[in-house]
Amino acid sequence: MESEAITSALSDLYNFHKYQYDQLIKPRNIKYNSLTDDDKKLLPWYVEHTEIMKKCIDHNRECLQSIAYTVGANWGFPDPSIWDPPTTTGFDRVRSLLLQLTREWSDEGIDERQVLERIYGDLGSQQLDILIPGCGTGRIIYDLAARGHDVHGIEFGYHVMILNQFMLNFYQREFIIYPYLHKLSNVVSRDRQTRNVTIHKEVSDIKGSMAMSGGSFIDIYGPNDLQISEFYSEENHECRADPTKFDTLITCFFIDTAPNIIDYLRTIHHRLHPHGKWINIGPLQWHFEDDHNITTTITNGITVPSINKGLELSSEDLFHLINQFFKITRNDQIPTTYATDQTLMAKNLYHCLYWIASPLPLK
Ligand SMILES: C[S@@+](CC[C@H](N)C(=O)[O-])C[C@H]1O[C@@H](n2cnc3c(N)ncnc32)[C@H](O)[C@@H]1O
Repeated sequence: MESEAITSALSDLYNFHKYQYDQLIKPRNIKYNSLTDDDKKLLPWYVEHTEIMKKCIDHNRECLQSIAYTVGANWGFPDPSIWDPPTTTGFDRVRSLLLQLTREWSDEGIDERQVLERIYGDLGSQQLDILIPGCGTGRIIYDLAARGHDVHGIEFGYHVMILNQFMLNFYQREFIIYPYLHKLSNVVSRDRQTRNVTIHKEVSDIKGSMAMSGGSFIDIYGPNDLQISEFYSEENHECRADPTKFDTLITCFFIDTAPNIIDYLRTIHHRLHPHGKWINIGPLQWHFEDDHNITTTITNGITVPSINKGLELSSEDLFHLINQFFKITRNDQIPTTYATDQTLMAKNLYHCLYWIASPLPLK
């Protein structure tokens, strides 16, 4: 199962250009051909712009195929012709990952990365063991290891892990992507839609260390009495049994991915030293809000239904819950966008919750 999921994710990157062509070029051509000749004359730039978009798609193809090929070969899947097929949901992930790469590794992401600078500043000057669940494509791990900390990241999305591996382990120079092609509304000028961004890693002397685990945060680091998920693997079990505790745990745009926030709080508490710190930044954009799937599992012969949505707490209720596990020592709000083209005419601004908390002794 795992190798199917990995090679399917690799295929999503490898074949992304087909999706981009279907989603962007086909409808443009059909629409344009449906216009009368007089109407076509009113849009003299249209055909040329479609050609520019095709070049951008082709450039993304070269780049994503090289990433998929490099990481695939390293993970023991060197032959794209026998990878599992791509999926539409996988293509959607790649589309948002191009924006995620931009947020984390390009100059266009500098404003959004101000929140990371705030976290780095609040860590103080001593060298720390830091755990970061949901670490994305790895920028936060890289920055903190460059500052001398020993950093352990966790990710469970295969697409994210592929990019994370590529950014942290393989690539040295810069490369260019076109992340904004799919944004069709609230665009000021078509040149902005087809502009590129340079993905680059400032070459730092890494004074600390970087490590990554693939899997779900709860499965890997949760206390033994927490239920494991469908992503569970034997490898995860070994980590759970490992008693390692951390000085600091950072959640950056992560806590709202929880199907059960209480499990996240128990796991964060379980993995911090008694004098450790939890730093959080992020909104409450609960990820399972629109998920209505109910799955059933059989436990001790009894069929138990389960659902991911249902515990979408308000911030007041969340703080009430957190106060039962942690003492909050700092509490702020920071406005920021997330993986957003800053030139758009409409943007989501999150009033993010920023807090620093230390674990309370549990009764
Ligand atoms: C909104 S993104 C944030 C990424 C990054 N921290 C940032 O600030 O850009 C949330 C990330 O958490 C990952 N994730 C969600 N649930 C997870 C879980 N249970 N265990 C590990 N990673 C998880 C997702 O794959 C995704 O990369």
